[in-house]
Amino acid sequence: MAESNRREFLVNLILGLSVIPGFAWAARHVLRYLVPPKSQRTTEVLLTRLSDLPVGSGREFKGVLGNDLIAARLPSGDVRVFSSICTHLGCHIQWDQVAGNFLCPCHLGRFDTEGKVLAGPPPTPLPSFAVRVSGNDVYVTVPVKEG
Ligand code: FES
Repeated sequence: MAESNRREFLVNLILGLSVIPGFAWAARHVLRYLVPPKSQRTTEVLLTRLSDLPVGSGREFKGVLGNDLIAARLPSGDVRVFSSICTHLGCHIQWDQVAGNFLCPCHLGRFDTEGKVLAGPPPTPLPSFAVRVSGNDVYVTVPVKEG
């Protein structure tokens, strides 16, 4: 009798434990439906002055509302701003003054001034950010990263 109760208890325990992953999966989906993720909030911030970014130059800006950015001033005078995090394995890219484009020193990935991959292993272009120039001021719109 005791052996039968023990066997029944173990069977019920195993059956009970086997439904936990399914319940967790269902609960996760129900919660995602009930509490959708927050949309990414963006804001425009003053990044630099045109006078600090001469034509043909580039410069990194770390920690702009939690974003690491790199800006380049094209020969036309236009300004482009990208994430300075390489899309390959996350190294910080640099401005290559001689080549006039961006270089990742880790595995020699190279990006043009539109953020497109020119060479090396990066799988995707650099994420870009909207730029607005007002007088001598360069503003960029970036996501607000929390934490
Ligand atoms: S991390 Fe940039 S090329 Fe590999």
